[in-house]
Amino acid sequence: MVGKSLLIACLLMFLTAGANAQNEYVGAAKCKMCHNKTATGAQYKVWAASKHASAMDALEGEDANNPKCLKCHSTYYGDDEDLMATIKPGEGVSCESCHGAGSGYKSNTVMKDKDKSIAKGLVIPTEKVCKKCHNDESPHFKGFNFDEYFKKIAHPIPADD
Ligand code: HEC
Ligand code: HEC
Ligand code: HEC
Ligand code: HEC
Repeated sequence: MVGKSLLIACLLMFLTAGANAQNEYVGAAKCKMCHNKTATGAQYKVWAASKHASAMDALEGEDANNPKCLKCHSTYYGDDEDLMATIKPGEGVSCESCHGAGSGYKSNTVMKDKDKSIAKGLVIPTEKVCKKCHNDESPHFKGFNFDEYFKKIAHPIPADD
């Protein structure tokens, strides 16, 4: 009997781990619903005006279909296609390239609790995340200084005063 319940416990752990790994990409329009108010930093607007949002425009001609370019210029082509739920290929480098696939954390009850969000897949990005793409595999690599580059894309929630 002990053996059997241990087996079930292991199976449950396996299934839960599997479920966590299966978070899907929902796209920036979903984040926009809650992250586009000026009072809380309008993260969507800041991102939409950034080079990340228009990164697909940099790929011309054949390169627009070249998987070697697409994997860094688009969130959609940067991970397993089966995980792409409502995200669009044209979104470029979208929120979820840096913050992780959002299907698990995007509900308000989860999002308002930082620890819960992280447990459901939210990533608080560090330099390491940027360097997945900002590295010398890129044909136009200009070097990468985190502090300098982060300033150019910063989208903070303004502090209360
Ligand atoms: C239903 C509303 C809602 C949606 C949809 C939503 N968020 Fe949030 N998000 C929130 C709330 C509320 C907070 C907490 C804000 C605060 O602490 O002031 C938050 C916080 C965050 C934080 C900051 C975490 C921290 O404390 O450092 C990040 C990053 C974030 N959201 C990213 C996203 C991304 C990416 C998406 C889309 C995949 C998304 N959110 C979708 C409501 C939402
Ligand atoms: C490893 C990730 C990666 C790959 C692979 C990649 N790029 Fe990029 N690309 C970037 C990054 C990051 C930048 C921003 C440049 C910088 O600041 O270093 C960029 C910038 C560009 C630019 C703008 C040039 C400029 O001077 O700013 C063009 C055009 C471009 N890439 C085209 C391509 C093409 C075409 C391919 C495929 C042959 C490709 N990229 C493959 C990451 C990548
Ligand atoms: C999924 C790949 C990817 C990730 C992850 C990524 N970037 Fe980028 N980034 C790009 C691409 C591609 C471009 C070039 C877009 C273009 O020029 O069309 C770019 C451009 C930029 C630019 C504009 C550079 C310029 O020439 O003006 C800044 C700033 C930047 N990234 C900062 C960051 C920071 C900071 C992080 C991490 C927090 C990060 N990026 C993560 C792919 C990525
Ligand atoms: C290129 C990577 C990148 C992209 C794209 C990106 N973010 Fe972020 N985001 C970051 C980084 C880095 C931070 C700062 C993390 C920290 O606090 O250390 C951050 C912080 C945040 C915060 C918390 C701000 C605060 O002051 O606590 C929110 C909310 C957020 N992002 C939402 C979004 C949303 C929504 C999108 C898309 C519309 C998005 N981000 C796109 C890298 C990115």
